[in-house]
Amino acid sequence: MASSTLLLALVILHNFQHSTQYSFSLSVENLKEDVIVSSPKATFTAGFYPVGENAYCFAIWYTQQPHTLVWMANRDQPVNGKLSTLSLLKTGNLALTDAGQSIVWSTNTITSSKQVQLHLYDTGNLVLLDNQQNRSSNIVVLWQSFDFPTNTLLPGQILTKNTNLVSSRSETNYSSGFYKLFFDFENVLRLMYQGPRVSSVYWPDPWLQNNNFGNGGTGNGRSTYNDSRVAVLDDFGYFVSSDNFTFRTSDYGTLLQRRLTLDHDGSVRVFSFNDGHDKWTMSGEFHLHPCYVHGICGPNSYCSYEPSSGRKCSCLPGHTWVDSQDWSQGCTPNFQHLCNSNTKYESRFLRIPDIDFYGYDYGYFGNYTYQQCENLCSQLCECKGFQHSFSEANAFFQCYPKTHLLNGNSQPGFMGSFFLRLPLSSHDEYENPVQNNRSGLVCGGDVGNVKMLERSYVQGEENGSLKFMLWFAGALGGIEVMCIFLVWCLLFRNNRTLPSSADRQGYVLAAAAGFQKFSYSELKQATKGFSEEIGRGAGGIVYKGVLSDDQVVAIKRLHEVANQGESEFLAEVSIIGRLNHMNLIGMLGYCAEGKHRLLVYEYMENGSLAQNLSSNSNVLEWSKRYNIALGTARGLAYLHEECLEWILHCDIKPQNILLDSEYQPKVADFGLSKLLNRNNVNNSSFSRIRGTRGYMAPEWVYNLSITSKVDVYSYGIVVLEMITGRSPTTGVRITELEAESDHRERLVTWVREKKMKGSEAGSSWVDQIIDPALGSNYAKNEMEILARVALECVEEEKNVRPNMSQVVEKLQNHSMHTIVDGLNKE
Ligand SMILES: *[C@@H]1O[C@H](CO)[C@@H](O)[C@H](O)[C@H]1NC(C)=O
Ligand SMILES: *[C@@H]1O[C@H](CO)[C@@H](O)[C@H](O)[C@H]1NC(C)=O
Ligand SMILES: *[C@@H]1O[C@H](CO)[C@@H](O)[C@H](O)[C@H]1NC(C)=O
Ligand SMILES: *[C@@H]1O[C@H](CO)[C@@H](O)[C@H](O)[C@H]1NC(C)=O
Ligand SMILES: *[C@@H]1O[C@H](CO)[C@@H](O)[C@H](O)[C@H]1NC(C)=O
Ligand SMILES: *[C@@H]1O[C@H](CO)[C@@H](O)[C@H](O)[C@H]1NC(C)=O
Repeated sequence: MASSTLLLALVILHNFQHSTQYSFSLSVENLKEDVIVSSPKATFTAGFYPVGENAYCFAIWYTQQPHTLVWMANRDQPVNGKLSTLSLLKTGNLALTDAGQSIVWSTNTITSSKQVQLHLYDTGNLVLLDNQQNRSSNIVVLWQSFDFPTNTLLPGQILTKNTNLVSSRSETNYSSGFYKLFFDFENVLRLMYQGPRVSSVYWPDPWLQNNNFGNGGTGNGRSTYNDSRVAVLDDFGYFVSSDNFTFRTSDYGTLLQRRLTLDHDGSVRVFSFNDGHDKWTMSGEFHLHPCYVHGICGPNSYCSYEPSSGRKCSCLPGHTWVDSQDWSQGCTPNFQHLCNSNTKYESRFLRIPDIDFYGYDYGYFGNYTYQQCENLCSQLCECKGFQHSFSEANAFFQCYPKTHLLNGNSQPGFMGSFFLRLPLSSHDEYENPVQNNRSGLVCGGDVGNVKMLERSYVQGEENGSLKFMLWFAGALGGIEVMCIFLVWCLLFRNNRTLPSSADRQGYVLAAAAGFQKFSYSELKQATKGFSEEIGRGAGGIVYKGVLSDDQVVAIKRLHEVANQGESEFLAEVSIIGRLNHMNLIGMLGYCAEGKHRLLVYEYMENGSLAQNLSSNSNVLEWSKRYNIALGTARGLAYLHEECLEWILHCDIKPQNILLDSEYQPKVADFGLSKLLNRNNVNNSSFSRIRGTRGYMAPEWVYNLSITSKVDVYSYGIVVLEMITGRSPTTGVRITELEAESDHRERLVTWVREKKMKGSEAGSSWVDQIIDPALGSNYAKNEMEILARVALECVEEEKNVRPNMSQVVEKLQNHSMHTIVDGLNKE
C-alpha cells in the first residue's frame, strides 16, 4: 500500500517556504484554508478544530457534515486561537506550537532527509513519510496517527498491546475521560474505569475471570494464550481480537464508512454512515449491561436501566447530588456520619430492595442472620450499610457490610436487599422521597415507601440474574464450569452448604479492584531514584514513594535477575488486583517495562507486625494485638472462602502483616500464593516448597496434600508469636534474640506444655506465656481465647485445625460479647 503512490494523498508544501526552519506550517488563524484534505476521495480533513472558546486542537474529522472527530493530537492541551501553528520542522519533527511559544505536542521524529512529507490517506491515517531515506526501495513511515488512537478506531486501524482507546470526558468535552479499552497482561481485551480515585475492570464481567478453571480461561469466552494482542475492525464491519472476542455489526457485509468509539459513558459502539443518509447510525455495541459500567453513578447512588427510558442514576434516600448535571460525582449524605470512639453512632437501617453495591466489602460473613449482620454493621464506624440475603434452598444467610457505596445497581429479582445505615434521629422523609421525576435527576429514585419487610425469596429459575449468568456460562460451554464450581465449593468449604450461585452473583469476586499501569520513569521519580527503602522480602525490595498526585505509596521492586521474575510478577498482579478487602493490602498499580517489574501498594504507616513486635521502645498494646489477630483472620478467611478466588497465601508471617495508621492489619505479599485450579486442587502441583522456616505447616515437610490449612497453621504460629513475644524458631523472646541464645525450645511445644501443666504457683497458664513486655496490661479472657485458638490452628493433623472463618467467628463473637454486652448471643 505504501508504495502505491496513487493512494498517497495531497502533499502539503504550503506557502511558508520562505521560512528556513520548517518545510511547511499550518496556522490556527486560517482555519478554512490551512487544512489537509485526504485524497483521492477527500473523506477526511485534518486541521485546527475549535473545542472551546479560543481553544483549538489539531484533529482529523470526517469532511462530510456533521463533522465527526476521529483523532486529536492534543486533546488534553488545547492551543490558543492566535499564533498557534502546526509545523513540519526541517529536522523531521512535526510540532504543534501554542501561541507562538511552547511546543505542546510533537511526533518526536528526527531525520536528516530532505524529502519528508505529510499525507492524509482516505483511511483516516495521517502519515509522516520519508521518501529519501532508503533510495533502494521503500518509503519509510516515520510516524502515523493510527499508532496513537484517541477514542476512535477506524476500519483497518489496529489496536495493539501498545495502544488503547480512552473515552472523552463528556459529549462536548473531548479531553481524556474515565474509560479505557486495552489489552491487559493476560492478553485479554478489557474495559476499565479509571476514575479520579478508584479504578476497576468492568468488561468482561469481572466475576467471570480467566483461568479459574485451569483450561485456558474460558470463564468469559476469552483466550489468554495468544500474546499477539491485536484487534481490528475490518471494512465489512467485523471486529476481531486476538483473545477470540469477535463482534459483527448489524450491517455486516457491506462496504460503508464505519467507526468504533469508546464513548464517554463507557460503552463501545460502532457507527455507520450510509451514503444518501445525513447522519451516523449505531450499527452495534459490545454486549454490556448499561448498569455494569463502573463509575457511571458515583458514590451513594445507584443505576437503573429500562430499555424504554434508558439508564438513570438515583441518589440513595437521605442523599443529594454533588452536581446534578454530572451523575458520576455521586451523592453526599444529608446527615453526618458521627463516629469516633467517644460518640456512639446510634443508627437505624432502611431496607432498599433489589439493590447491589459491587465491591468494597468490609468482609464476608457467612450465615449471619439479619440481626447479627445489623449488629455487626452498627458496631463499625466505617460501615455505611450492608447487603443481606437468604437462600432458602441451603438455609444460608449472607452478610456483606460495606465500607463504601460504589457501583450501585438496581436489579429487579436480585436476591437480597441492601440496608442503608442512617442516624437514629434522621427524618422520616428519607423513607418518603420526592415522587420520582422521570425527566430530571431527583433524589430518591424508585425507592418509594419502604419498610422492614420479610426477606422474600424468589425461585432461582425465574431469576433474571441467574439467566444472565447462564447466558454467559452457556455461551462458553460453561455449564460444565458451573458444575465444577459447585462441586468444588462443596468439596472445599468443609461441608458448609453453599448458597446458590445466583445469590452470589456480583459477589463472587467481591471486588475487582482495578489498577493502574505506571511507567518506570514515573516510579523512579516517585521514589526519588529508589532512595528510601522500607522493607525487603523474598521477591524484592520495597521503597517508599510519592506519586504525582501526592499520594504516598509503597513500591515493591522485584528482583530483575531471577528467571521466574515475570511469572511471579504476573501471579501477584493478577491475584491482588482482583481482591479488595479491608484486611488485604490494596494494590494500586504495577509497572512492567523491559526487565523492570514493580508493584505499587497502599502505604502502611505503621510498618509490619514483625517490626512492631521487635521494637523495644514502643510496645504494641493488647487491644491492638487482639485486633490484629482478628483482622488477619478476616483477611485470610476472605482469601480462602470467596470460592472462585480460592487462594492460598502460603507465606503467612509477621513480616507479611502490615499495619495502617490505625493499626488495622493488612495481609501483604501474595508473591508465593497460587490460585488453585482444578488440576491441582487435590495435591501437589506445588513443585517447590513455599513459605518461611518456623511458620510452615508439617504438610510441606511430609509432602502431604496442600490445602488452606497450611495458612491456618502459619496463622496460629503468628498469633502465638504475637501473644508470647517469642520467636517461633528459637522460642527466644524476639527482643532478646542475641542475649538469651541458650533457650531453644520450640514455641509451640513450650506453650502446649504450659497449658498442660495448668496453673502453677498461683498464676494461670496464660499469665505464664504472655509477652512480658505487656506487663499486666492485657485482657485475660481475650488472651485465653487467642491462645486456645492459636493452639488449635497449629495442630499437626490438618483436619483438626479450624478453617479461617471459624477462627474469625470465635474471635469475633468473643470481642462482640465484650463490646456489646451480649447483644449478639444466640
Ligand atoms: C534500505 O532498505 C533495504 C531493504 O528494505 C535495507 O536492507 C537497507 O538497510 C535500507 N537502508 C537504509 C539506509 O535504511
Ligand atoms: C474538560 O474536562 C476537563 C477535565 O475535567 C477540564 O479540565 C476542562 O476544563 C474541560 N474542558 C471544557 C472545554 O469544558
Ligand atoms: C478461538 O476461536 C477459534 C475459532 O472459533 C477456535 O477454533 C479456537 O479453539 C478458539 N481458541 C480458544 C483458546 O478458545
Ligand atoms: C493470534 O491472533 C492473531 C490475530 O488474531 C492470529 O493471526 C494468530 O493466528 C493467532 N495465533 C494463534 C497461535 O492462534
Ligand atoms: C444457618 O443458620 C440457620 C439459622 O441460624 C440454621 O438453621 C442453618 O442450619 C445454618 N446453615 C448452615 C449451613 O450452617
Ligand atoms: C422534574 O424535573 C424537571 C427537569 O429537571 C423540572 O423542571 C421539574 O420541575 C421537576 N418536577 C418536579 C415535580 O420536581
